[in-house]
Amino acid sequence: MLKMSNKLRIHVSIRNANLDDLFKIYLVEKSSFDRPYSLDTLRWIIASKNSIVLVAEIERKIVGYVAGLIKGSVGHIVSIAVHPNFRGLGIGRKLLLSILEKFSELRLSRALLEVAVDNDIAIYLYKSSGFRVSRRLRNYYGDGLDAFLMVLDLGDTTTLLRYNKSKKIMTLQER
Ligand SMILES: CC(C)(COP(=O)(O)OP(=O)(O)OC[C@H]1O[C@@H](n2cnc3c(N)ncnc32)[C@H](O)[C@@H]1OP(=O)(O)O)[C@@H](O)C(=O)NCCC(=O)NCCS
Repeated sequence: MLKMSNKLRIHVSIRNANLDDLFKIYLVEKSSFDRPYSLDTLRWIIASKNSIVLVAEIERKIVGYVAGLIKGSVGHIVSIAVHPNFRGLGIGRKLLLSILEKFSELRLSRALLEVAVDNDIAIYLYKSSGFRVSRRLRNYYGDGLDAFLMVLDLGDTTTLLRYNKSKKIMTLQER
């Protein structure tokens, strides 16, 4: 119940990132991963003409971000993170749905991502947004930890309806 009331009160806005956001994005990244992307890698991703990087803001403070690289008709989500102080409020889902919407607008056919097999919350988020496990990538992180390669077919109208529906629910939750 407490979580719901938080969702009701907080207004989260999503916008395209730019290089001025680099350090704030890096702080979210560092607070979220044991082996975060470096500043240089994030700078490269944000500056790439083949990327989509979105930030989530609460009162103009960056609390989360999502990054995707586009290759051909495929959108590869290379990172999504919400600052630990702002998790469980629907921000991760909002970021994910926002980048999927951008992929759809670009008429991409598929979205894909890798996720550690022990990252239950992220796996739940992706599955409940329409992703399915395509295969297991052995030792993907180089430390014995496997990843799932997860895929979403963007051309599938059932999927589009499903995440439009989720979005509607989120809009209600934000009021
Ligand atoms: C994965 C991550 C981005 C999710 O962001 P978030 O803002 O906390 O996610 P949301 O609040 O939108 O929650 C998404 C779903 O997970 C559920 N969830 C979130 N936190 C949870 C928790 N601690 N326990 C159980 N369920 C949880 C939510 O209930 C929600 O499901 P619902 O819409 O059916 O209620 C965030 O946990 C994070 O930054 N993790 C560290 C970085 C990471 O692992 N990124 C993914 C790499 S592949």
